[in-house]
Amino acid sequence: MRITIAGIGYVGLVTGVCLAELGHEITCVDLQESKIAMLNAGRSPIFEPGLESLLAKNMSCGRLQFTTNPEMAYKQAEIIFITVGTPASDDGTADLRHVTAVADTIAMYIKNDVIICIKSTVPVGTNEKVKQTIDRQKNADSNTTVISNPEFLREGSAIFDFFHGDRIVIGSDNPEAAAVIENLYAPLHIPVIKTNIRSAEMIKYASNAFLATKISFINEIAVICEKLNANIDEVVMGIGSDKRIGDQFLRAGIGYGGSCFPKDTNALAQLAGNMQHPFELLEAVIKVNNRQQSLPIKKAKEVITSLAGKKVSVLGLAFKPGTDDIRESASLKIMKELQQEKAIVTAYDPVAVPNMKKELGNDFSYTDDIREALWNSELAIIATEWEQIKQFPISLYAEYMKEPIIIDGRNCYSIDEVKKHSIHYVSIGRPSHS
Ligand code: UGA
Repeated sequence: MRITIAGIGYVGLVTGVCLAELGHEITCVDLQESKIAMLNAGRSPIFEPGLESLLAKNMSCGRLQFTTNPEMAYKQAEIIFITVGTPASDDGTADLRHVTAVADTIAMYIKNDVIICIKSTVPVGTNEKVKQTIDRQKNADSNTTVISNPEFLREGSAIFDFFHGDRIVIGSDNPEAAAVIENLYAPLHIPVIKTNIRSAEMIKYASNAFLATKISFINEIAVICEKLNANIDEVVMGIGSDKRIGDQFLRAGIGYGGSCFPKDTNALAQLAGNMQHPFELLEAVIKVNNRQQSLPIKKAKEVITSLAGKKVSVLGLAFKPGTDDIRESASLKIMKELQQEKAIVTAYDPVAVPNMKKELGNDFSYTDDIREALWNSELAIIATEWEQIKQFPISLYAEYMKEPIIIDGRNCYSIDEVKKHSIHYVSIGRPSHS
């Protein structure tokens, strides 16, 4: 089918490339000229494993094109996916400016019947508003159907998730259009859940809120474990093996970050509050997460009274491994807090250094070599569980650091292994070792 993807961020690009791989004719449109120029040169503006090879393959066989020209993108489209960002407004609600702008532009250029599929994470009721906006403004005598088709891709494994997702949600009040979208995904053999439009919109927020709740829940248990000398690893093994609970999203650590959980939990809490139903559980989840992100500095100050003038290594800048995305990452907060404490920071990350430099400037030293980051430092804070860090021998910390004090915010090392070395090691929800 002839499909247009509107908004080439991480969701749009992954969706476009993967639908092209399924054999569809894809046009990706975005306003940002530099991004489109980069993509037309075959380079991905985001770091996502497997993306560039699929990009090259599908561009070379002519199934995938990139443009800034809306007329070319929308005129002939049979399906349009809206994948623009919905960042947080100042009050925490979703900012729908980009969604509205795309709807206005689509109305201007569509000529034929078209199915508009909204993948952007939008508050309940937005799909209906988009349909009204387009119907009110369009010139063509054609039918517009709007379908909510939320996405559940994780950064860092988005290509895998597209082809192997747990479910596809199609929210629609038009069975024929829903069948067209279902058919689009048929080669993936992923279970399809058909709902009404509002339920589909809610499924996305409820999914992210529930996963965030699991994380804050286990982080609370971890704090209590520390106080009572229990070990969170063992506790998670014990509770996660109950199929009703499941063992995923129970990794204790210094909280969730990224462009989705913080934004979507805030937006849902705001939405509920605006309906005169404060979502107290979710508000607590958010509060716990904010506290977790500040734990490393708090724990460091329990060991070293003053960080002023101390050389500190921050290991990991991305909000999770497998991505160069630093949005809302725990490291951002850690680096800012270290700066306030007047520490001298060298930060390591295998891919996210350029993004952190852009965000925080050159007040810090950066490296993509763990040894260099650790050299001569008095404190190491592990903020992202990169494989490179997990594989880095614990014995080498004492060799490279002046004073081997490690705050492991992601429980990268086993306590049994740590105990063999003369280091001061503090992790999350597990006994410390010194
Ligand atoms: C999340 C969801 O997992 C996707 O299903 C959803 O599509 C996406 O948001 C979105 O709304 O677009 P993502 O933000 O890429 O995906 O990353 P996750 O793998 O979910 O991790 C989010 C954060 O939670 C990371 O900072 C990670 O370190 C943290 N986390 C995750 C934990 O602290 N503990 C865990 O057990 C799992």
